[in-house]
Amino acid sequence: MKFFIDTANIEQIKDANDMGMVDGVTTNPSLIAKEDGEFKDIIAQICNIVDGPVSAEVISLEYEGMVSEARELVKIADNIAVKIPMTVEGLKAVKTLSAEGINTNVTLVFSALQALMAAKAGATYVSPFVGRIDDLAQEGMGLIEEIVQIFTNYDFDTQIIVASVRSQLHVLQSALMGADIATIPYGVLKKLAAHHMTDKGIESFLSDWSKKNK
Ligand code: E4P
Repeated sequence: MKFFIDTANIEQIKDANDMGMVDGVTTNPSLIAKEDGEFKDIIAQICNIVDGPVSAEVISLEYEGMVSEARELVKIADNIAVKIPMTVEGLKAVKTLSAEGINTNVTLVFSALQALMAAKAGATYVSPFVGRIDDLAQEGMGLIEEIVQIFTNYDFDTQIIVASVRSQLHVLQSALMGADIATIPYGVLKKLAAHHMTDKGIESFLSDWSKKNK
């Protein structure tokens, strides 16, 4: 399973990339708004650091606007994936962009049928938001299971990016279910690497070593 990092913060991206954990990056308007600098400059900096796909989201809600924004965004770098919201206008934009060879990431997916429609329109990626579904007291990961099943049934090439990841369990379940990608916030990524037994083991090895080497 690929790990994308869900942030627009350059330091976090560099650190995670140094760990070898960045197969791609996802951003959204809220993540961009947290950072200093202009949208396209931030995206260009990220694309300089990371070889894999970098998602940059359109702001327009109408077909024409989405398509023209997308055509501008892909000029920033070769590895841009244009994030398009899961709406009727968005599906039309995905169909056009996909025919032009532009990679798309259909975002704000909350049902398996939305994911199916995005795949039929030619989306490169779909992003189901599991954490926001959990917030509604529903099983976010159940949606991933359904989409994996549907995409397998019909052999879609569209890749599933598990998004709105909030915990290590989301990442574990994504891998067990066969999702292609999880896009992981930096804080969760750091937690994945940690285990108290690892820390305890290091502590006791070092303490034994210092006793012998007094
Ligand atoms: C996905 O691409 C989104 O950027 C992200 O995962 C949204 O997550 P949130 O629900 O934590 O805002």
